[in-house]
Amino acid sequence: MHTNLPVREERPWWRDAVTYQIYIRSYADSNGDGIGDINGIRSRLPYIKDLGVDCIWINPWFQSPQKDHGYDVADYMDVNTDYGTMDDAKALIKEAHDLGIRIILDLVPNHSSDLHVWFQAALNSEPGSKERARYIFRDGKGENGDLPPNNWEAVFGGPAWERVIEKDGKPGQWYLHLFAVEQPDFNWENEEVWQHFRDIFKFWLDLEFDGFRIDVAHGMWKEKGLPDVDFAEVELLDRHYRPYWDQEEVHEIHRDWRKITNSYKHDPMLVSEAWAPTDQRTAMYVRPDELHQSFNFSFLTAKWEAKSLKQIIDKSMTEVVKVGAPPSWVWENHDVVRKTDRLDLGLQNKGKGLEKFGDPKKLNKERALLRARAATLLELALPGGAYIYQGEELGLFEVRDIPEDRLEDPIWKMSGHTDRGRDGCRVPIPWTKDPAGAHGFSSNKSITTDKAWLPQSEGWGERAVDTQQGVQGSFFEMVKAALTIRKGEAGLGDGEMNWIDSTDDVIAFQRPGKFACYVNFGPADVVIPYGAEVLISSAPLKGEHIPADTAVWLRLP
Ligand code: GLC
Ligand code: CA
Repeated sequence: MHTNLPVREERPWWRDAVTYQIYIRSYADSNGDGIGDINGIRSRLPYIKDLGVDCIWINPWFQSPQKDHGYDVADYMDVNTDYGTMDDAKALIKEAHDLGIRIILDLVPNHSSDLHVWFQAALNSEPGSKERARYIFRDGKGENGDLPPNNWEAVFGGPAWERVIEKDGKPGQWYLHLFAVEQPDFNWENEEVWQHFRDIFKFWLDLEFDGFRIDVAHGMWKEKGLPDVDFAEVELLDRHYRPYWDQEEVHEIHRDWRKITNSYKHDPMLVSEAWAPTDQRTAMYVRPDELHQSFNFSFLTAKWEAKSLKQIIDKSMTEVVKVGAPPSWVWENHDVVRKTDRLDLGLQNKGKGLEKFGDPKKLNKERALLRARAATLLELALPGGAYIYQGEELGLFEVRDIPEDRLEDPIWKMSGHTDRGRDGCRVPIPWTKDPAGAHGFSSNKSITTDKAWLPQSEGWGERAVDTQQGVQGSFFEMVKAALTIRKGEAGLGDGEMNWIDSTDDVIAFQRPGKFACYVNFGPADVVIPYGAEVLISSAPLKGEHIPADTAVWLRLP
C-alpha cells in the first residue's frame, strides 16, 4: 500500500505525531486536594519527555461544574479552578515547548454546560428570544406540550429532551441534550455560535497551543425539522444513522476552523472524534480543507485476531490515504475499557465503552499484558499518528471494584444504575508502589488510596511508574525504546507500507528502510526471516522464533 507521502523533513509535524492523552483529573495532584491539576502535569513533564512522545492532548480543562468531567463547559476561555489558573496554563505551554513537546486541548462544540452564561440567559428569556436561539428549544408535543418534541435518545440513556420551568412558574419549552441533562446542545444554525467558537479558537491558538481534539465532531448539525429517528429502519440499514450524527452540513464548520488554523504559523492541528458509520465517511472529516486527523476507532472494537486486525488496518488506511490524510491509531482512551482487559477477554466496545466489562474472573493478566505490549508495538509501527492514553504505557488494567457510591460517570445515573460507565479507566495514575499520597498521585501524603477523587483498588501500585521507569523489560521501557527507534527511522510515521507474509495467525508488513513488523497471534511459534536483525520485541524471543502474542520489529537483510 502506498501512501505517497513526503519524507519526514518536508512534512508537517502532525502527520506522524505520537500523542499522549492526559486525563487531567487523574494525572497528578500538585496542591494536595486529591484532584489532578495543571501544575501536576508540569511536574511530570520530565517523565513525558523521557517517554519520548511528540505531543500531549489534555482532556477538557475549562471552567466547568464537572457533571461530565469537563465535557460540560461553562467558560471556554478560562481554566477550571480545581485545575489551576491561566498563569499555570501559560507556564505549562512554555515549559512543554521548551522540551519540544506540543500540547493540544479538547474542544467541546456540540454542547455547553447548563451553567454557561448563554444557557442561563436562555432559561431567563422568553420562548422565541435570541437568547433561546443559541440552543435548541422547542415546544413539546401533546395537548399541554408535556411530551418531548421528538423521540431522540440521549447517548448516556433516557430521552434527549428536558423540560424547563418558564418565568411564570409553569412547565414550558423543552431543550435538546444529546448527552447529559446538564449538557444542552448548541444551535449551529445560529451565526453567534460560529463566532463564539472562532473566538475560542483564537484565544487558545494565540497562546500558542498546538490545536484541538474536537469532541463529538460528527455532532453539532441536526437534520432540518428534527425528525423522529426511525428505529426500525435504522437497525435495518445502518445502526449508526441518526438525524443528528454525521450530517453533511457539519463539514462546513470544520472548513471554517481549518481556515483559522491555517492562518497560524505554528501549524496547529485538529483531530476529530467522529464516530461515523464507515471508514469512508470518517475520511470525509480529513479532506484537505477540513481537519488534520480523525481518530480511527476500529481498534476499540477489534478482537485480538490477525485476520480482522489486518482488515481493519487495510480498510481505514485505504480511505484516509485517498483524501491525502494520515491514518491515526487508538487502542485506548478515557471512554473505553483498558486494552489489557479487552484484548484478553475479547471484549468489544460497541463504540462507547458502555457495555459490560466481561467476566473479570476469566482475565489472564499475564496474557493480557503480552497482548497489550504486542498491540502497542503494532500501533507504533504503522504509518500516521498514534495515541497513547495515560497509563497505557504502564499496561494498567481496568479498575472494576469502584464502590457504587463512588461512581462519578453520569452514565451510572442516567442508565438507571445499570451501566457503571467509564470510571474504570479513569482511576488516578500510580506513580509509586508506595501507597502514600494515592501511590504518588497526590503531593499530599494524607490522600490515601480511597481519598483520591476516584478510589484506587488494592494492588494498584503493582504497575506503578517507579517499578517500571528505568527498569529493563518493563512496559514503559518498551514504549520508550520503540519511540526512540520510530524517531530514528525516516520512513516510520508517514511512509509506505506493504503487507508481507501475513497468515491467519500472523500480521507482517514492511516499511521503508527494510523495516518490518511481525505480530504473532499464536498459537504456534513463528520463525524470524533469515538474516533479519531484531530491533525490539514486545516479549523475549525463543531463539529464532517469535512466540505467541508477541510483536517484533526487524531490519530485513
Ligand atoms: C465524547 C467524550 C466523552 C464525553 C462526550 C460528551 O464522547 O470523549 O468523554 O462524555 O463526548 O461530551
Ligand atoms: Ca489538585
